[in-house]
Amino acid sequence: MPEGLLIQGDNLAALRKLADSSVDLIYLDPPFRSEHIYRTTLSAGETSGAKIFDDRWRWNDESESDLRRLKLTSDQLAAMVGGFEAILGKSGRLAYILFMIERLVELKRLLKSTGSIALHCDQAASAPLKIAMDLLFGEENHLNTIVWCYGLGGSSPRRFPRKHDDIHWYAKEVDRYYFLPPVEPARSQRMKGKSKKIPDFWYIPSINNMAHERTGYPTQKPIALLERIVVSASPPCGSVLDPFSGSGTTLLAAARNNRSWIGIDIASEAVETSIRRLEIEGFDRNLSFQRWGLEI
Ligand SMILES: C[S@@+](CC[C@H](N)C(=O)[O-])C[C@H]1O[C@@H](n2cnc3c(N)ncnc32)[C@H](O)[C@@H]1O
Repeated sequence: MPEGLLIQGDNLAALRKLADSSVDLIYLDPPFRSEHIYRTTLSAGETSGAKIFDDRWRWNDESESDLRRLKLTSDQLAAMVGGFEAILGKSGRLAYILFMIERLVELKRLLKSTGSIALHCDQAASAPLKIAMDLLFGEENHLNTIVWCYGLGGSSPRRFPRKHDDIHWYAKEVDRYYFLPPVEPARSQRMKGKSKKIPDFWYIPSINNMAHERTGYPTQKPIALLERIVVSASPPCGSVLDPFSGSGTTLLAAARNNRSWIGIDIASEAVETSIRRLEIEGFDRNLSFQRWGLEI
């Protein structure tokens, strides 16, 4: 039975307590800088009053101290954040990118040399996050930007409907990382009867209102997406970390596929939903729970 550790708290404080080079795969699905407040969805179109997380970003005192701290960490980080500051100014966009950079620095430290990291985002921050990851992990370690194509969501009369997210995937060391790609039947005449690796665009439907797996937690990702990532990019019996674990999709995907896991989320609803999902499938027996830096 795989072991699990669920932590409720700010992930920056929690990540700082984890050991260097200890994790095979990191998947993160952070706030996207959507400028929304996310609430629990009860049923089609109905929302409760309960706020889960706030994805609106403004420049404030906290951003000012993030900037100061990052500039003092190393010359490389000072140059990187100085560059973003020059381009973006002291804005909500800069506040967001500093929040992410500070966490990505810790995440890199936690990855094994054979490990990899997959950062899920959408067009609101995909470009600056890709640049930050190129600088932190090295352009040569960029493996794919996987395009997750989904069906649901709104449309607009003035542009094409936005129906995909980006998942920037990087190795810690490009010649050492674990990879076991899913395959599909080849369609070309030349490869007839053989199988080939699936490409880097994945059509996996997002969770509709009637879906069995739906928890009502906003921004929940499909388990099929996470199982594909976990199985492709972490070895059997390996370890998976999700520092923005939300409803626990990654944790469940890891447990189902015999990987140990660590999930971190600041929201109590996230932790409650994750435990409930893990319990239903009997994966709560080897689960430990900690609360860090929060009032109990
Ligand atoms: C996009 S959601 C993740 C959804 C998740 N992938 C799922 O399938 O349910 C982002 C999560 O980040 C959490 N979060 C935001 N800021 C955080 C922080 N500083 N530390 C830990 N978690 C945080 C939010 O509570 C939210 O659950």
